Amino acid sequence: MTEARITVNGEDTPISPAAPHTTALDFLRERGFTGTKEGCAEGECGACSVLVARPGVDKPTDWVAVNACLLPAAALDGQEVITSEGLATVGEPGTPATLHPVQEEMAARGGSQCGYCTPGFICSMASEYYRPDRRAHAAPPGSTEPAGSAEPADAEHGPNGFDLHALSGNLCRCTGYRPIRDAAFAVGTPTEEDPLARRREQSPPAPVATEYAQGGAVFLRPPALAEALRLLRERPDAVVVAGSTDWGVEVNIRSRRADCVVAVDRLPELRELRVASGHVEIGAALTLTEIERGLGGRVPLLTELFPQFASRLIRNSATLGGNLGTGSPIGDSPPALLALDASVVLADADGEREVPLADYFTGYRRSVRRPGELIRAVRVPLPLSPVVAFHKIAKRRFDDISSVAVAFALDIEDGTVRKARIGLGGVAATPVRALAVEAALEGGPWEAAAVEAAARVLETQGTPMDDHRASAGYRSAMLGQSLLKLYARTTEGVSS
Ligand code: FES
Ligand code: FES
Repeated sequence: MTEARITVNGEDTPISPAAPHTTALDFLRERGFTGTKEGCAEGECGACSVLVARPGVDKPTDWVAVNACLLPAAALDGQEVITSEGLATVGEPGTPATLHPVQEEMAARGGSQCGYCTPGFICSMASEYYRPDRRAHAAPPGSTEPAGSAEPADAEHGPNGFDLHALSGNLCRCTGYRPIRDAAFAVGTPTEEDPLARRREQSPPAPVATEYAQGGAVFLRPPALAEALRLLRERPDAVVVAGSTDWGVEVNIRSRRADCVVAVDRLPELRELRVASGHVEIGAALTLTEIERGLGGRVPLLTELFPQFASRLIRNSATLGGNLGTGSPIGDSPPALLALDASVVLADADGEREVPLADYFTGYRRSVRRPGELIRAVRVPLPLSPVVAFHKIAKRRFDDISSVAVAFALDIEDGTVRKARIGLGGVAATPVRALAVEAALEGGPWEAAAVEAAARVLETQGTPMDDHRASAGYRSAMLGQSLLKLYARTTEGVSS
């Protein structure tokens, strides 16, 4: 086992003596990379955003923006990170650095006011700047206005193809979004001389096996599934992390510590996306961004879910395995996966078993997953029901926790509902299926009176609570409205 180290802005940097729970954010700041800021320490502001070299889509490497406040530094052992300081090109001694194109545009358009959030915006923008398929969304040649005065190609994409969702995890508290958007929509295309574009031509660092121990705690990254399962059998107390977007919050906000953390996010056996004849199998450790791009719209309900799941920064790290593993009743993926009739493939040192997701949750943050078991994959059966919707009711549109989430997957043939699956989040101690509503709809006509009657039943599902996000009455009302909204969309072409 070699010493744990990270390449930061091209410099080999040992992780020691940081504690195993030390976040990448604290690690970087302690090493002098203070452009990386802490705003919230829970993945909501993006001030800590940095770029990590990951396996690419069209080239060997993509520059992926992640929240450094949630990721343990030890999770980046052997990896390559760029901070805002590493984006500018340093000239000869005595000559000024050349700003990165996104830094130039932010400066030119007044996108930096307090400056505190700016390095995080810059890193998220840089990730989008290098995104391989960005130009595919750009307006056709001839329709692009001169940089800086262009109208967006649509509400959420610039004429340069820049997807504003890339910034959905970055918060500007002084509301300077317009100049930030102007800068985003004005960036061009990387030149061939661009060092980070050139870096994309080479492979990213391969995952390394890590055993990083300090002060009685240890961070372990086993190289393969069998090793991970053996470890979990020996250490049933271990905290399993993939993207660490949940555990990172526990560490920062609740000061939780673990004697042993086992990282599974780079296990090859958990990172496969397969379409078989009877199902789509999604590796539990693929990030949501990887799933979104890998599926390419093949599972339309998940296509609706992805943009509403936290932010791009979170989706670049978060996994389905993690979202199901925490067992949260307000996770965004369970309602959609319940509506898809998905199942979970659980693995331990003795083998595998497949559990329907509808039988997986047993109580508040509890599931049938035993100590020593790992979620290896999620299976979505085929064929898919064609009428789908995912409605997340939250206080703000992106990067928020849902008050209620409802997912629908319906088969409607000749005006009759042949099959109905409805998944709910935020209305009980676990995500649940709305079984009574499914029964009310199935076999009946897809018409206003029947749907309104089913909506009344939907309002009675679960045991919603009053809390700071919403009242129980509001949550129930939103359930019913959600079905009426779907009906309106299917019959009147009203988009959700
Ligand atoms: Fe706010 Fe990391 S510090 S997202
Ligand atoms: Fe930093 Fe707005 S420019 S909060």
